[in-house]
Formats: sequence, structure tokens, C-alpha cells
Amino acid sequence: MKPDSSKVKAVVAELFEKTRLVSENAYSPYSGAKVGACVVDDKGVVYSGCNVENASYSLTQCAERNALSNAINAGMKAGDAQSVLIVATGFETLAPCGACRQFMSELLAPDAVIISCASETDYRSWSMSELLPDPFILA
Ligand code: THU
Repeated sequence: MKPDSSKVKAVVAELFEKTRLVSENAYSPYSGAKVGACVVDDKGVVYSGCNVENASYSLTQCAERNALSNAINAGMKAGDAQSVLIVATGFETLAPCGACRQFMSELLAPDAVIISCASETDYRSWSMSELLPDPFILA
């Protein structure tokens, strides 16, 4: 199911500039891509992260996973993330990678929205089930 467009607009209006600023912190000497992500929890608290690359390449951490790990480190509970906003330079509107989809599926609220912005007016949004319909779970 597509996310509610008025909720998407409100999140972009509130968080685009903050997320863009976070993207400037990226450590990405190999790809040059600067990605920022902000996570909003059920109390309206905002957590952020940027991508951090590594010479071994496979150790690279995406912005979304760093933002969510920062949220968990700060005390957010799994399932409490209501929205994730991503701002990337060097991409059109970046669709989250498979690893981030799996990571988000475990920590986002069932009706959470994921938004990826190329600019404040050019963005795409998804529900978690659109991005990853059948996530791996240990059950
Ligand atoms: N990247 C992210 O931060 N998020 C994604 O969902 C996809 C890719 C980063 C990882 C790497 O530093 C750069 O973008 C190129 O893949």
C-alpha cells in the first residue's frame, strides 16, 4: 500500500534540510556519493546518520543503517520508527539497497514511510511492504 501523501509532504518539509546537512558529513572517498538519513520515532524524536565507506568496500555502512543504529543506541525501541527520510547527492532518487531494506524491516513501525529525496520537490516514497514484501525473520 502506498504511504499517505500528506504525511510524506509533512516529513519532507520538516526534515529535508536537516537530512541534507547530515549528508554533508558522509565519508565516501570511493563512490563520492553523499547520503544522509533521518529517522523519526513515535515521540517525534529525530535520529540521523550518513554513509561511512571503507577501503575494504564490503564494510561500508549506508546512511539508513547508521541512522537506525544511532536511534537504537539512543534508546529507541524496535518498531517505533515512523519515518525514514533519505537525501542523496550523486543519485537520482536513491532506492534503498537490499541490506537496508532488511535492516529497516525489523525496526520500522508497520505503517512507517520511507522517503528518498533528490531535492525538496523531487522525491519518492514507499511503505516497508512495498520495499520488502517478504522479509527474513527468525520465527
Ligand atoms: N548508500 C547508502 O548510504 N544508502 C543506500 O541505500 C544505498 C547506498 C551509500 C553506500 C555507499 O557509500 C554509496 O552510497 C554508494 O553505494
